[in-house]
Amino acid sequence: MSAGKATAVAPANIAFVKYWGTRDEERTLPYNPSISMTLARCVSRCTVELRPEGSDLELLFGEGSAGLAPPSPEFARGVERHLGRLAEWAGYRGGFRVAARNEFPTGAGLASSASGFTALALAAAAALGREPGPEELSALARRSGSGSAARSAWGGYVEWPAAGGDGEGAAQLAAAAHWDLRDLVAVVDASPKGVSSRAGHRLAPTSPYFERRLALLAARLERVRGAIAARSLAELGPVVEEEAIDLHLIAMSSRPPVYYWRPGTLAVLAEARRLRDAEGVAVWATIDAGPNVHLICEPAAEAAVAARMTALPEVVAVLRDGVGGGPRVLRGAEDHLI
Ligand code: PMV
Repeated sequence: MSAGKATAVAPANIAFVKYWGTRDEERTLPYNPSISMTLARCVSRCTVELRPEGSDLELLFGEGSAGLAPPSPEFARGVERHLGRLAEWAGYRGGFRVAARNEFPTGAGLASSASGFTALALAAAAALGREPGPEELSALARRSGSGSAARSAWGGYVEWPAAGGDGEGAAQLAAAAHWDLRDLVAVVDASPKGVSSRAGHRLAPTSPYFERRLALLAARLERVRGAIAARSLAELGPVVEEEAIDLHLIAMSSRPPVYYWRPGTLAVLAEARRLRDAEGVAVWATIDAGPNVHLICEPAAEAAVAARMTALPEVVAVLRDGVGGGPRVLRGAEDHLI
């Protein structure tokens, strides 16, 4: 890694207990703790180069195997805001040259702010000569405004905010090696979602069921922590699926309502239940703020789940991922995007 320039890779994560509703938008603090699994294949890569003489930002972005190009003004504003906070943290006043790429399989419709902002935070910190550990990186990534980015700072199984911590950073519950879980994403619609998660977080407390879900969460979090510790999918699965449906219940009953589901979402949920009930395949579904369904299973069930989901006419792609080890700085000259 040459001084003033660094590249980092950071993963997306899939939440078992969701962050839905922001208590403090300025500091990106949630109403409730969330627990997720960090992924291995869905990653973002980011190269940051310092421009000490300048004060502006030159930014390029790419997805999959497409070339790098200037992103939308909205995307650029998010990056600029986050870099501004990182520069303030490091006491740096110059400009930046940045290139970012979502290395997700193309056409998956899984843009992830968590992986992108964590990769940006880690690459910028490294370019500025800092080496934040996961705890500090978690807090830095969260300053982007994406709360789930706090969880992408760690590999394996992660809770944010950490129980007993300062209420801001995430902590690792178990490393990736503790339990080899898979996440197969049944993609039913690859287009960008209509309502951002930021807007969804704002609307969440307007649902009459918002407080009810919060009241249920302490027990749900405890069950998920216990299931991870015991490596028990039979304990984890039902809670994870119930929790995902509750997120969408809140979204659909917000004022105004938000509908993330498509007909294919229901088709995948029904197929997962059929696989479980009629064929005894241990697979459970979860859904983030979008229409695509994440199917959680153990390695022995992966092939059957992939085959059945691929055969559904509503499914345009099945992406096979699993638990992964967390972000890292890449030190080879050939690793840089620019
Ligand atoms: O981090 P954000 O603001 O993109 O919100 C994430 C929201 C969900 O993905 C739906 C839930 C979660 O905890 O990841």
